[in-house]
Amino acid sequence: MKVSKNIILVGFMGAGKSSVARVLSAATGWPCVSTDDLIVQAEGRSINEIFRDNGEAFFRDVERRIILEVSKRQSVIIDCGGGVVLDSRNVEALRKNGVLVYLQTSPAEIFRRLKTQTDRPLLKTPDPQAKIKELLDYRSPFYAQADHTLMTDGKTPEQVGQEILRLRS
Ligand code: S3P
Repeated sequence: MKVSKNIILVGFMGAGKSSVARVLSAATGWPCVSTDDLIVQAEGRSINEIFRDNGEAFFRDVERRIILEVSKRQSVIIDCGGGVVLDSRNVEALRKNGVLVYLQTSPAEIFRRLKTQTDRPLLKTPDPQAKIKELLDYRSPFYAQADHTLMTDGKTPEQVGQEILRLRS
């Protein structure tokens, strides 16, 4: 992995992207940017509110605009929302300056990590476990476009971060 390239973390909700981004930021001195945080800032409301009031398609439009902006930056760690890879325009833009790292996580581990969380509108369903499986099945080929894949089950963010740093040396 070329050291000068942005490190772009992709993967399902609960994969640990934000925690790993912080580890990488501390180790490299590069700032980390979260696409979700930028969306919340741009819209002045929460992700739940955006989904509730305008729906997913609207959210994806805002997300795409944000991705186009952040992908122009250099020397940053980018913590991408779990659905960013679904749009090939996002993947193409991010790849120009960056290396995509897929943090892979099993459905059981995702459910365990997210079961007490309420800020994931896509999982607000009567059977979140089934929804996680369904979304992961559909999304796996999109995540597989990443340059590197690391399994995160049973690992701390520090361990995953160190593995990513080793890919660059
Ligand atoms: C989404 C993941 C969320 C957020 C939104 C949609 C998804 O980000 O962008 O709720 O489609 O997987 P995290 O992956 O950071 O939870």
